[in-house]
Amino acid sequence: MADETRSDATIEHLAAEGRTIEPPEEFARRATIGTEDTYRVMYRRSLEEPERFWREAAEQELDWIEPFDTVMSGGFEDLDYRWFDGGVLNVAANCLDRHLGTWRRNKAALIWESDDGHTKTYTYQQLHYEVSRFANVLKKKGVEKGDRVAIYLPMIPELPIAMLACARIGAIHSVVFGGFSSSALRERIQDCSAKMLITADEGIRGGRKVALKVAADEALFECPSVESCVVVQRGAGDVDMEPGRDTWWHQEISAPEVRKPCALEPMAAEDPLFILYTSGSTGKPKGVLHTTAGYLLYSALTFKTVMDYRDEDVYWCTADIGWVTGHSYIVYGPLAAGATSLMFEGVPTYPDPGRFWAVVEKYRVNIFYTAPTAIRALMRHGSGWPQRYDLSSIRLLGTVGEPINPEVWTWYHETIGRGEVPIVDTYWQTETGGFLITPFPGATPLKPGSASWPFFGVEPEVVREDGSRADPGEGGYLTVRRPWPGMLRGTWGDPHHKRMHEVYFERFPGRYFTGDGARVDADGDYWLLGRVDDVINVSGHRLGTAEIESALVSHEAVSEAAVVGFPHEVKGEGIHAYVILRDGYHASEDLASILSGHVRKVIGPIAKPDRIQFAQDLPKTRSGKIMRRILRKIAAGETETDAFGDLSTLAEPKVVKDLIAGRAAL
Ligand code: PRX
Repeated sequence: MADETRSDATIEHLAAEGRTIEPPEEFARRATIGTEDTYRVMYRRSLEEPERFWREAAEQELDWIEPFDTVMSGGFEDLDYRWFDGGVLNVAANCLDRHLGTWRRNKAALIWESDDGHTKTYTYQQLHYEVSRFANVLKKKGVEKGDRVAIYLPMIPELPIAMLACARIGAIHSVVFGGFSSSALRERIQDCSAKMLITADEGIRGGRKVALKVAADEALFECPSVESCVVVQRGAGDVDMEPGRDTWWHQEISAPEVRKPCALEPMAAEDPLFILYTSGSTGKPKGVLHTTAGYLLYSALTFKTVMDYRDEDVYWCTADIGWVTGHSYIVYGPLAAGATSLMFEGVPTYPDPGRFWAVVEKYRVNIFYTAPTAIRALMRHGSGWPQRYDLSSIRLLGTVGEPINPEVWTWYHETIGRGEVPIVDTYWQTETGGFLITPFPGATPLKPGSASWPFFGVEPEVVREDGSRADPGEGGYLTVRRPWPGMLRGTWGDPHHKRMHEVYFERFPGRYFTGDGARVDADGDYWLLGRVDDVINVSGHRLGTAEIESALVSHEAVSEAAVVGFPHEVKGEGIHAYVILRDGYHASEDLASILSGHVRKVIGPIAKPDRIQFAQDLPKTRSGKIMRRILRKIAAGETETDAFGDLSTLAEPKVVKDLIAGRAAL
């Protein structure tokens, strides 16, 4: 495989491979998928009789206004794959209205825990009322079916309310993570020509204020498509309001005329539901497009079967709704399934590192889903914190966002899961809509560090550079051989799938390429090995090295920059930037922090380099291509050039020695 830097992970995996943990009997007895055989039979059927499998699932899981005519059509040849054509439905109706005729009407749909420990609960009835009211506001503001609405909000209930209100009237939402900068917001608004922006005066995380409206104002300065901006008052409300453009959320929803029920927009199965921007290995972030029926079915079915949701459970996913995990597994999947979904405004370490466990104890959380980076951060504070709380309500744990190493898995299992609670290590992406490879907690013998099995309908294949299938145990590129209902339908602004083809389908013709490395062991279990492209995963956040490089180069002092990831104890990967200065600028600690601050301003705090190494030159091939493999090795602390692989194509061999010396001096 292209990238040898992952070999440490592979060694640890091999040690863990022999260890399996069977599903607890009591768990398996009540689980949706309760035996390995059940999984295998269903999986086989999902591949051999996909039409029947997905027809039954779609009829069972979703409420349709008009039934669909065809289950699936098209494929990876023309990229015009479609699901449930002819069918008409509405996502908000599936998440809310249909529960109102059942006992779930008065069940908690959403429980909100604020940064400072306050709580708000919305039953399905109440959430429906709020969504309907805000949907009327959207209409009043001139938002129509197909219009794009940008949402730049902190983790407050108005965020899912705004998303569902868009879905109710057929507007396409584009949620922008509240931690992104004004220029990142501007780029995303401009790319999809959003007609409206929904934001807040400020956000509050870990006791610290985030000036969202100030950032929004800066962005909107160059966003002529935005006609109106609705502002939620989360803080003191002390912000500038642009007359004719900005209005307060609370004033909008208290107008008498928005109280009447808002009619549902009947949506075709393939009508767009949302856009979510994500980083790739080249260029600017892409607006990944998800549509109505396939996405909703996939998020709901994966949620029910993998999270093994039962009606009495309180389910908590700690992600931010600004990322796909929050879309699929705080909002759409859980609400379609009639679940109680907890959303948390704060951070794991505020006011102290016991916060997660205090929240689990407070609401008696049954299913807890978080990221390896959060577990690692909390692990560092020791087992004392979780031990102070009653975590006995937890019956299922999950992780997502990056590979979890066996040692961290084991701590999670023993310290949070009492050594008996199953862990689902769910592998997926913004593009996949929902879980691609995952354990089924009642059926899968777990191996710490392995994401286990493909979900129903997913046909993965690990391949070599030349596209041939890798042998068991052999690392390769993870591809998928056929469409599944939840996968992206394209990227915004690319109607003929040109860019989609280049990014996901060109390298291995006829297959979707994930950008991840993986291997399958002799039992058929999948082990994810990390990205094999120029994407880095910092604390479970996906960043393109090219984006960080352009941010650096946009500073007047920088002539050239190359960014790579390096293994980081808490974040998974850290950001190491090699910077070549323009004439007249001199390397200094001050300049390094100015450049870090610049990246933070251009992209957001998550993209701030951990290290800046000033250099005279970069290792390049004779044709001028930067040899990133070498830069990754040096960033990881490797000093022996023997470990660098083939250096014969280097134009200037001396560069490597200089860079090693520079790294040692950091
Ligand atoms: O590299 C994989 C990693 O996160 C990438 C997708 O990032 P994003 O689109 O932001 O979505 C994150 C949440 C779904 C993947 O290409 N990744 C995600 N989950 C796992 C993972 N790597 C290993 N194991 C996982 N469970």
